[in-house]
Amino acid sequence: MRVTCVLGTRPEAIKFAPVILALRGRRGIACDIVSTGQHRDLVRQALAGFGLVPDHDLALMRPDQTLTQLTTGALEGLAPWLDDARPDWVLVQGDTTTAMAAAMAGFYARIRVGHVEAGLRTGNPLSPWPEEMNRSLITRLATRHFAPTPIAAANLRREGIAEAAITVTGNTGIDALLMVARRTAGDTALAERFAFLDSQRRLILVTGHRRESFSGGLARVAEAIAELAARPDVQVVFALHLNPRAERPARAALGHLPNVHLLPPQEHASFVWLMQRAHLIVTDSGGVQEEAPSLGRPVLVTRNESDRPEAIIAGTARLVGTGGAELLREAGRLLDDPQAWRAMVQAGNPYGDGEAAGRIVEALLADEQDAINPPGRGWPHLPARRRGSELPAGAAVEP
Ligand code: UD1
Ligand code: UDP
Repeated sequence: MRVTCVLGTRPEAIKFAPVILALRGRRGIACDIVSTGQHRDLVRQALAGFGLVPDHDLALMRPDQTLTQLTTGALEGLAPWLDDARPDWVLVQGDTTTAMAAAMAGFYARIRVGHVEAGLRTGNPLSPWPEEMNRSLITRLATRHFAPTPIAAANLRREGIAEAAITVTGNTGIDALLMVARRTAGDTALAERFAFLDSQRRLILVTGHRRESFSGGLARVAEAIAELAARPDVQVVFALHLNPRAERPARAALGHLPNVHLLPPQEHASFVWLMQRAHLIVTDSGGVQEEAPSLGRPVLVTRNESDRPEAIIAGTARLVGTGGAELLREAGRLLDDPQAWRAMVQAGNPYGDGEAAGRIVEALLADEQDAINPPGRGWPHLPARRRGSELPAGAAVEP
C-alpha cells in the first residue's frame, strides 16, 4: 500500500508526524511526504522535530499571496506528482487551504482521500475563515474520515456521511504531544534556553494568528495582554507567528513592555516546555487548545465561536472572544482565585490518548482488505485511472 501525506503548514506537520512514523513503521506500506510549502520555515521546523523531511516540496509560499494563488498553485503542483506516483491513498489533515486543495487533487486523480481530523465544525462558514469551508469541502471529497472525537463523528453523520466511512481515532496532535512531552520533561538544554524567565512571576503563554481577527481582534487581545502584564506577579511569553499580519499587532501593543517576551515561533519541543510551565494559556490556535488540557493547563480561547467544544464542555477551556474585556476578567479570576484555577486544571482531557495514529493505520489497512469497496468507503463508481498498460484500454469507466 502506498500513502501520500500532503501537508503545508505547522499544525499539519505536527499532527501528521505520528501518522507518518506509524505508516513507515509497518512492513508493506510506503509513505511519501509531499509539502505544498504553504509555510516554508514553520513546516521544516516542525517536521525536523520528528526527524522528518518532505520527499517533495512545491515551495508555494509567497509574501502576501492570495488564497486563490495558493489553491491553484497547490492543485497544479500536486496533479503531476499524483499522476506519477499513483498512491492508493492521499491523506490530508485538518482544514488548511493545502488540505482542501490536496483533497481536491486526490479526487481529480481518482485516488481515495483520507481525512485526518475530520468533522470539526462551528456551523459558521466565516469563522474560522476559510477553515470552516475548507473542512466541509474536504468532507465531501474524502472517502474515509478519521474523526478525533465522538462529537466530530456526530457532525459527520449529521451531514450524511455513512457510519462505515467514519473512524473515531482521537487527535493525532495528542500522539505528537505525548511523544515530545516525554523528551522535554528532563531536558536541561531547554531549561537553560528559558533561564531568562523569572521564577517569581507566573507565566502567561500567548499565541494568536487567526485571519478573521486581522481586522481588530488580534490588536484588542494584544492590548488586553498589555493590561494584564502590568500586574507585578506575571510575565508573558508571546510566541509570534511568522504571518506579518498576525505579528504586527502583538509587536505594536507589547514590544516595549519589560515583562513581555516576544519570541519567534518556537520549535515544538520548546513550545511544549513553555506550555508545561504556563499558569495560563491564551490562544486562538486549534492545536494549542487541544494540547493544553493534556498538560493540565487552563486555556482562554480568543475566538468568538468554537470548533472544539469538548474542552469547553469539560471545563478546561473557556471562550473569551476577541473584545479583550472578557479575557481580562477571566484571566484575573484564574490569577486571583486558586480554586477557579484548580477547577480548570483538573477537568481532564477529551482529545485523545496518544494512540490515534495506530488506529488510522489499522483503518487504512482494513479498507485495503475489503475485496469490494462498499458504498461510503471508496469511489466504486470511479475506478483508479492507472497509467500505462496496467489497465486494458477502455477499462477506466467515466462516471
Ligand atoms: C495557515 C492556515 C491556518 C492555520 C495556520 C497555522 C490557511 C488559509 N491558513 O494560516 O488554517 O491555522 O496556517 O499556523 O490555510 N510565513 C512565513 N514563513 C512561514 C510561514 C508563514 O514567512 O514558515 C508568512 C508568509 O508571509 C506567509 C504568511 O505568513 O505568506 C501567511 O501564511 P499562510 O499560510 O497564508 O496563512 P497563515 O495565517 O499562516
Ligand atoms: N506551536 C509550536 N511553536 C509555537 C507555537 C505553536 O510548535 O511557537 C505548535 C503547537 O504546540 C501546536 C501547533 O503548533 O502543536 C499549532 O499550530 P498553529 O497554532 O500554528 O495552528 P492551528 O492549530 O491554529 O491551525
